[in-house]
Amino acid sequence: MPEIKGPIEPFRIKVVEPIRSIPQPDREIALQQSGFNIFNIPAEKVFIDLLTDSGTSAMSDGQWAGLVMGDESYAGAKSFFRLEEVVRSIFGFTHVIPTHQGRAAERLLFDALVKPGDYVPNNIHFDTTRANVEVRGGHAVDLANDAAYQPDRDLPFKGDMDVAKLKSFIKAKGRKKIPLVMITVTNNSGGGQPVSLKNIKDVGQLCAHHEIPFFFDACRFAENAWFIKKREKGYEKKPVLEIAQEMFSYADGATMSAKKDGLANIGGFLTLDDDSLAEKIKTGLVIGEGFPTYGGLAGRDLEAVARGLREVLDEDYLEYRTSQVAYLAGLLESGGVPLFKPTGGHAVYILADRFLPHIPRHQYPGWALTVALYREAGVRAVEIGGVMFGRKGKSGREVYPELEMVRLAVPRRVYTASHLRYVADALIDLYKNRGKVRGVRIIRESPYLRHFTARLEEI
Ligand code: F0G
Repeated sequence: MPEIKGPIEPFRIKVVEPIRSIPQPDREIALQQSGFNIFNIPAEKVFIDLLTDSGTSAMSDGQWAGLVMGDESYAGAKSFFRLEEVVRSIFGFTHVIPTHQGRAAERLLFDALVKPGDYVPNNIHFDTTRANVEVRGGHAVDLANDAAYQPDRDLPFKGDMDVAKLKSFIKAKGRKKIPLVMITVTNNSGGGQPVSLKNIKDVGQLCAHHEIPFFFDACRFAENAWFIKKREKGYEKKPVLEIAQEMFSYADGATMSAKKDGLANIGGFLTLDDDSLAEKIKTGLVIGEGFPTYGGLAGRDLEAVARGLREVLDEDYLEYRTSQVAYLAGLLESGGVPLFKPTGGHAVYILADRFLPHIPRHQYPGWALTVALYREAGVRAVEIGGVMFGRKGKSGREVYPELEMVRLAVPRRVYTASHLRYVADALIDLYKNRGKVRGVRIIRESPYLRHFTARLEEI
């Protein structure tokens, strides 16, 4: 057999969805109408959509077949028990509580645990987890290791929590003020970086010692397990399923968005061992989501998630998945585009403040880059920077997050190498002409998750 060079799809394509490049005048109109916020642009007006890897996966023939097998019974559907069995076999916790997506699982968990004035440490909170802590009057605290904020350091596990910082934080605040500790795998807001098993074990043991519940934000657990296999000593020969099982064995539970490593278009769950906490959560579930065996999902969705969770642990798939993302990063790097290193599991992160050094932080260079990329190429990407995470400081002036990035999230099993080459060419062109890109200012915003709805103008 010839050697396989570069990412090769371990599937062939059975159904296609037409996409079209968007004429320049249409892109300009779409930008104006959106208030220079690419979240407000209709998908039809986007050529290649790298806004998110969430809910945008292509399902397999097995998953589509599973939709027909979905049991739509209100209570005790067969599809629920199939999902429960799969989740237990990977995550290892007793209770499996389906929710319509990840943030519903977060809401239910934090409703049950977080009181005003509490602290929730995480490596780096994702925006919805942060908002779910803050909306309850809690403090979302990021305790990632220092390298997480150093984009040039090419280290294998930049998602790791800083265990020494966590230790002193617990000492300073006292365990009663810390209702839970979370670790996000992979660390989406910090460049999609994995967390090592050693770190997971250390955090788990520290939390167990202080009797603080330890939960995973597990959206991309399979990609994390794959990086452990590839990068952590002693795991080279272990099946990823066993690595995932070991990851979860150090925790008390997990929230999960099945829209990522569930390979589904909708769905999520909360899984945990604590019986009384599960009881409390199920009460909240019935009020806000649905009966405990469907939790806001159709039976067919439960079925798609159950099948997706098995498929995502296929090692040929994970090899293809991570090398496809690395392929995009390689193209960009060869064109000089400044990137966060190393490449993440689900996305390539551009260092927007270096890409556009003439735009100051208060004019949101990351956001400006998403506008420019859409304007030039009809490609949609997302800012992970000042608009998403900027906060008013005590002085009334805005405080910016350490990293100002633009994420090119690659949907699972959706785009080919030629699509990614187009994106890379567009960005390399833009980089050559970066002086023309203008900063932006916010003219309307909401108090939480402002990036979704803000309206802006160019300066
Ligand atoms: N946690 C992480 C780490 C996430 O990346 C997301 C979603 C969630 C929780 C919430 O899950 O969307 O199912 O409610 N991330 C998407 C993204 C939206 O684009 O990264 P959800």
